[in-house]
Amino acid sequence: MDRLYFLTGQEAMPEAGRLLPPDLSLQWHLWLGSTNELALQGEWPPGTVIAADCQESGRGRLGRVWHSPPGLNLYFSLVYYPSLPAKQWGGFSLAVGASLGQALAPLLPGLRLKWPNDLLLPAGKLGGILLEARGEKVVAGIGINVNQVDFPPLLRAVSLARATGKKWRRDRLLALLAPAALKGLEAWNRGEAAQVLASWRSLDILLGKDVEVRRGEEIIRGRALAISPEGRLLVQEQGGVQHSLASGEVTISR
Ligand code: BTN
Repeated sequence: MDRLYFLTGQEAMPEAGRLLPPDLSLQWHLWLGSTNELALQGEWPPGTVIAADCQESGRGRLGRVWHSPPGLNLYFSLVYYPSLPAKQWGGFSLAVGASLGQALAPLLPGLRLKWPNDLLLPAGKLGGILLEARGEKVVAGIGINVNQVDFPPLLRAVSLARATGKKWRRDRLLALLAPAALKGLEAWNRGEAAQVLASWRSLDILLGKDVEVRRGEEIIRGRALAISPEGRLLVQEQGGVQHSLASGEVTISR
């Protein structure tokens, strides 16, 4: 665990690819529009990890901007070619989240997952996953706040450095998290939905809680009951009506 902390200057992102296992290869960029966009556009071999020091137009879920200042955080996208039919790709995001959560939880005991794709610490959002697909290809885009300590106040974000009071090595974190993301994609692709969901559940912050789910103009209020085998959030209103949600922005009511 100590290996993940660093003294300034020890990090070597351009060479971080050497820390990756042989089924992953790193494309490191000092500056990019969005690692997801480049991953979606190019003809990359499976296992390509496109990472950038900063992103000009990093994107989050629901059309949001992912703030991506230089020298501080991890922004990377993993290219994957599933053998599953596209209608079953809905669980890839959860599978990546569960796998990243399991990799980080031993280092950060307060870490939790919030459907559909948030990595949370008690003080706020540590990271997120944006799964995008084009043609035969799936791209798992991952943003983790690592050494940033100042955030725009409205973001309610937190970083590893803020949570632990230490600076972290991004190269070694990438070597921990990129293989974990691949493991999650492979597990879902092999049809291991039950294992993936059990792994997600063990870190889930929503289950059993009263929640509000915002979907555009619509707000659904109820209790978060479960994640379905397809990766949908099941919410039950007080009157008993059940919703099976494929997307939405969830907040815990109390
Ligand atoms: C979210 O929580 O809304 C998902 C955020 C995903 C951000 C990452 S940063 C690397 C990759 N490239 C992007 O443009 N977005 C994802």
